[in-house]
Amino acid sequence: MISVERVTKVFNPGEVNEVTAIDGLSLDVPESQFLTIIGGNGSGKSTLLNLIAGTYFPTGGRITVSNQDLTRVPEYRRAGLIGRVFQDPLMGTSAGLSIEENFALADRRGGFRGLGPALDSRLRTRIRERLALLGLGLEDRMRAKVGLLSGGQRQAITILMAVFQRPTLLLLDEHTAALDPRASRKIMELTRTIVSEEKLTTMMITHNLSHALESGDRIVMMSRGTIVRDLEKNALESMKAKDLLDLFWDTQRREESVSESA
Ligand SMILES: Nc1ncnc2c1ncn2[C@@H]1O[C@H](COP(=O)(O)OP(=O)(O)OP(=O)(O)O)[C@@H](O)[C@H]1O
Ligand SMILES: [Mg+2]
Repeated sequence: MISVERVTKVFNPGEVNEVTAIDGLSLDVPESQFLTIIGGNGSGKSTLLNLIAGTYFPTGGRITVSNQDLTRVPEYRRAGLIGRVFQDPLMGTSAGLSIEENFALADRRGGFRGLGPALDSRLRTRIRERLALLGLGLEDRMRAKVGLLSGGQRQAITILMAVFQRPTLLLLDEHTAALDPRASRKIMELTRTIVSEEKLTTMMITHNLSHALESGDRIVMMSRGTIVRDLEKNALESMKAKDLLDLFWDTQRREESVSESA
């Protein structure tokens, strides 16, 4: 489904602050897989998702989604394929618009549907049904401005919006990291429910190893712009968060000894 072939991303090439954020990375994600990406700060996780989303283009290599070569397709032309949720709950929604207006925008994602009345009764019914899934009572507050909601509520709405037009690929970049533990757990549960019901191909970055173990069909660990561990479902079944943490420290120690000897 998603195929990343020997991709490299160098920022500021030839300058003093040159950084190789992704270093010859290859990864295949089959249809409907829920892949979790873990790895230390600066290991290239967000850069990888940005390359897949088209925020910027790779320096080398190829990226295909459903056999379409997207390597140099601009971000706005992939918008219909990709749903994204970021760490900051303020980013995914427009504070000055109501809940239903935000959904009307999500409904237009990836295609221009003319200037007719965006919010007809059919669309309102669909929005209401989705919001009811959250159990937060937001279906009765559809005209409330999103700016009045809590971070957890906004993040829940952002996820529903990201999948409102079923995306070919869902990208989540630490989407629970800014929430308190309870909200974070609820958003993770919501994510799992939506991903499994809609059978969405999903790539999720997290620093929460329990979330990684509970959710993913597969976990890849990144270090210095490459994949250093690739753990499939059968390897994960017997794993505890502690085992994953040990692997994580093991990788960190290796990195440190490499930089010391360099
Ligand atoms: N737009 C950019 N311009 C220059 N350097 C960048 C840019 N984006 C990322 N980098 C650098 O690329 C490397 C990888 O960054 P990236 O944000 O992908 O890491 P990450 O694994 O997502 O880290 P974190 O866990 O902190 O979010 C870092 O050294 C970072 O400083
Ligand atoms: Mg990041």
